[in-house]
Amino acid sequence: MNKSKSSSEKPRTTRSSQHRPSDAQSQSPDADAQKPYGKQRKKQSHSALVQDLSPSSLKPPLESGLAAVVRLMKLGRCKNIVVVAGAGISTASGIPDFRTPGTGLYANLEKYNLPFPESIFNIDYFSNDPLPFFSLAKSLYPGSHRPNYIHYFIRMLHHKGLLLRVYTQNIDGLEKLCGIPEDKLVEAHGSFATASCHLCYTPYPADEAKDAIMNDKIPTCSFCAATVKPDVVFFGEDLPQKYFLNTQDFPKADLLLIMGTSLQVNQLPFASLVNTVRSAVPRLLLNRDAVGPFTKVPPRKKDFVELGNLEDLVRTFAQMLDWNKDIEEMMMLHSCRKNYKKTDQINQ
Ligand code: OAD
Repeated sequence: MNKSKSSSEKPRTTRSSQHRPSDAQSQSPDADAQKPYGKQRKKQSHSALVQDLSPSSLKPPLESGLAAVVRLMKLGRCKNIVVVAGAGISTASGIPDFRTPGTGLYANLEKYNLPFPESIFNIDYFSNDPLPFFSLAKSLYPGSHRPNYIHYFIRMLHHKGLLLRVYTQNIDGLEKLCGIPEDKLVEAHGSFATASCHLCYTPYPADEAKDAIMNDKIPTCSFCAATVKPDVVFFGEDLPQKYFLNTQDFPKADLLLIMGTSLQVNQLPFASLVNTVRSAVPRLLLNRDAVGPFTKVPPRKKDFVELGNLEDLVRTFAQMLDWNKDIEEMMMLHSCRKNYKKTDQINQ
């Protein structure tokens, strides 16, 4: 995993706690400047006043990444937003990510006795021994988790007519379940919604594959008798055709929003996608750690990083855009209206 540098080395990297509107009002020196003179926190000394008038202090204060992006969005400069998402957007729904030490999926596969944790998603390994994946798949099948605030934030981008496309690496189906339409969604690492033979690719009914896997049976191809698997993309397999929409979308994007991913998978082409937007396009990373090109010092001019808990960051983002009420309402209406059981069946 890429090591993040200290925040002092990355001037545009901020932590969520530093730019919450309430914190900003109570803590920033600017907030004092806006108060009536008598109510300022403390009187400045002569030397402090002199320093305040020095040329370097006359520079505009650095904007936080969120503030900069919110400003651009409010100016109407971001109408083709591409979202790149990873497992970190679903941890708030109770689904572990892959690489967080201790809690990530790859840290908890000892019982399968694999040569490497990633082997569980390796097509050659699967071809030889599908049982570890099938055993894990029982807990990965969609159905027991609900979309969270972050998924609905992405749906709100669509609702506002700003979402060009969301590219997700997740196989949990939560983007679909929260109501992001098919044509706005690229499930780059596939999903459990369909199944096929891992050898000859003959389609196989997804519900029958699920039934077999849940009952510790191995679904086999009616054409060549090889093992069938859900169409989640394994290392060594091609990405779905829809993924190649990226060649149109990324050059068209006017904002790239990257959330909850380590951008670490070299065997898959996904991680390098973020480098295919035009260089003048702002890229905002919302994540627990700085990753991929966002660890570069000095940062690219239009790169912004906000580190912290993703749901908190996205809630702050929504508040700054005045979308929070709309999102809460959308979530409430959706969960009241939705018969999740029915939707889950459709999505699997
Ligand atoms: P990773 O587990 O590699 O990365 C998740 C990222 O999200 C990490 O940087 C975490 O720090 C961050 N994160 C997790 N929870 C968070 C939270 N609550 N708040 C903020 N940040 C949080 O997952 P991906 O990047 O999605 O491929 O992994 C990419 C691919 O690697 C997966 O699709 C999978 C895996 O091998 C296949 O299975 C084919």
